[in-house]
Amino acid sequence: MSLFQLFYVSASLHPSGHRSDMEILETAQDHNSENGITGFLLRTPTRFVQILEGTEASVHDVFSRIANDERHKSIRHIARDMVTQRYFPEWSMGFATRTDTLAANLVETLSAEAPDFQEALDMLLSIASDTMRSA
Ligand SMILES: Cc1cc2nc3c(=O)[nH]c(=O)nc-3n(C[C@H](O)[C@H](O)[C@H](O)COP(=O)(O)O)c2cc1C
Repeated sequence: MSLFQLFYVSASLHPSGHRSDMEILETAQDHNSENGITGFLLRTPTRFVQILEGTEASVHDVFSRIANDERHKSIRHIARDMVTQRYFPEWSMGFATRTDTLAANLVETLSAEAPDFQEALDMLLSIASDTMRSA
């Protein structure tokens, strides 16, 4: 099966810890597990950073809903590519709220004129593996 990955950053419209974060996560986990989508959602004080992976059709389908969601704005695509493996096979949607330097560095990397995709992915994978260890 060919796999597609979409990586974006957006500006949240509610503060971190707002109940809408948990509502987003619950919907995401329910819907994604029904549709073979996996990924990770990072919440920083002002941003969402998300990777979605699955078939191209299913990722496009969910992203068209996410793009119209009024809980965030200013979506910036970092990558949209076919990939050979899932980075988050265990997670219908992993989730972490982070306020530390690593999260701030990731947001800064994603704000660059031409973000370094690999550097950003490595930071997100590191955050995801911390989350997995503490789960
Ligand atoms: C930052 C963010 C990430 C989201 N991630 C997902 C996701 O991975 N999967 C999903 O089904 N919905 C996700 N949503 C929620 C969708 O935007 C949408 O509300 C949900 O899919 C229900 O859509 P519906 O009411 O049209 O059925 C996300 C929303 C936001 C703001």
